[in-house]
Amino acid sequence: MTRFTVNDEPVHYKMDPATPLLWALRDASNLTGTKYGCGVGQCGACTVHVDGVARRSCQVTIGAIEGSFVTTIEGLTDDRSHPVQQAWVAESVPQCGYCQSGIIMAVAALLAHTPDPSDAQIDAAITNLCRCGTYPRIRRAIHRAVAAAREPIAAAPPPDIDPADAAAAVPALTPPKK
Ligand code: FES
Ligand code: FES
Repeated sequence: MTRFTVNDEPVHYKMDPATPLLWALRDASNLTGTKYGCGVGQCGACTVHVDGVARRSCQVTIGAIEGSFVTTIEGLTDDRSHPVQQAWVAESVPQCGYCQSGIIMAVAALLAHTPDPSDAQIDAAITNLCRCGTYPRIRRAIHRAVAAAREPIAAAPPPDIDPADAAAAVPALTPPKK
């Protein structure tokens, strides 16, 4: 049995402590925004935050993070207002989208610790793979997220929000979570 916190909710998994965090999140908590790609720590599709640090959840056992605080893409914000999420919409980054939640989580962790990263720092920190080759848009969006933390983006509203309502209230940007 393992206890820790996922997206601000206490969890108590009655699973083998050797279970990868990825499968506890997806199978026990139904948090399917965290994706399975390679299963060997290479692709980054499974990236989540553990105590504020980007970790590849296929390589983290639930027994190793007893008492930790885990954040998944579902818990990054509850209204998609994180500067990285807004920049991703504004730059239309995703193609198929499979890799994107992991990349957004990796970038959010980077900006929490390095608010204005150089291209070299981005290259060193963001090693996630994208089979659709969205890398140029990812880089543009990272720089746009840095700017968005200072000045709001009038991004297109999510599909389930009436454009008229969105126009009346573009959500205020908040800095990345520490
Ligand atoms: Fe975890 Fe690829 S599924 S790094
Ligand atoms: Fe398709 Fe990255 S958008 S794998």
